[in-house]
Amino acid sequence: MNSVKTVAVLTSGGDAPGMNAAVRAVVRTGIYNGLKVLGIKKGYEGLLRGDIEEMTLRSVGDIIQKGGTILQTARSKEFTTKAGLEKAMSMAKIFDIDALVVIGGDGSYRGARDLSELGMNVIGIPGTIDNDIACTEYTIGYDTAMNTVLDAIDKIRDTSYSHERCSVLEVMGRNAGWIAVNCGIAGGAEAIILPEKEFDIDKDIIIPIVEGRNRGKKHYLVIVAEGVGGAVEIAKYIEEKTEITTRATILGYIQRGGSPTVTDRVMASRMGAMAINLLLEGKKNRIIAVRDGKLTDLEINEALNMEKTIDGDLIDLSRILAL
Ligand code: F6P
Repeated sequence: MNSVKTVAVLTSGGDAPGMNAAVRAVVRTGIYNGLKVLGIKKGYEGLLRGDIEEMTLRSVGDIIQKGGTILQTARSKEFTTKAGLEKAMSMAKIFDIDALVVIGGDGSYRGARDLSELGMNVIGIPGTIDNDIACTEYTIGYDTAMNTVLDAIDKIRDTSYSHERCSVLEVMGRNAGWIAVNCGIAGGAEAIILPEKEFDIDKDIIIPIVEGRNRGKKHYLVIVAEGVGGAVEIAKYIEEKTEITTRATILGYIQRGGSPTVTDRVMASRMGAMAINLLLEGKKNRIIAVRDGKLTDLEINEALNMEKTIDGDLIDLSRILAL
């Protein structure tokens, strides 16, 4: 059964709204169950440098509503080397860390898996706005980011309508189009361009705009996923071909920050508590995930070997509704 006495928690990769709620849940559930909980600053960088401090019930007070991560985060190059991993393990021994909770994405899990091969017990919590972690349907921060994008779309629509313009909006997601497809549907886009689906600029963007204009449409929205990119060039091309004034907006970091939504706060809280409960049950090297709408956990290598792609029905729906 459980031999864990000291648990450390870190956030790694891109920050995502709700990470603080997950840290809070790890700390409070851990302390409630008699564990010592350490916070590691700046992801694996902090583990390498021993930038580690004991967390208390109060050190996670007043953070549930905050975006970003109070532990800060980083993408560490040194940690990916053999020497870096060994250094991290020896630092973990100095601090008596029995288990490590990693809040981040697939890249962070790969680091966790490498540590597990050296004997560390690791638990992964999915945290990224991109929703690009293969084993899970939901990631912390994704819901907030989509609501932020939708708010931007609604504002841009006001101006597009008033001036009878076209707007091209580039949204984040790294190599995945989850934010783009859902916000495109929710925002009523004329065209959604995703990395998961090849596109033809004339067939997929110009024709829907021109046909829409012939049916009486007065303004147009094109969503481009970051994994395709080129929003500025696409906007120029649309203006050239249609003579509709077209502007590009690249939303950037505005999508990463901000106060987490109810969904992100509650899911992050449940996942943080679950991480501690898995350790108390004596489980080792698990990734927490949502599958078929339910919270579950998978062995880390199994989780890392999975793949996921956007449901074709969502893409078809977006095309029909843009008519
Ligand atoms: O993973 C979150 C994310 O914002 C991606 O959407 C984007 O590709 C990447 O991080 C940007 O990373 P950075 O902040 O390091 O430039």
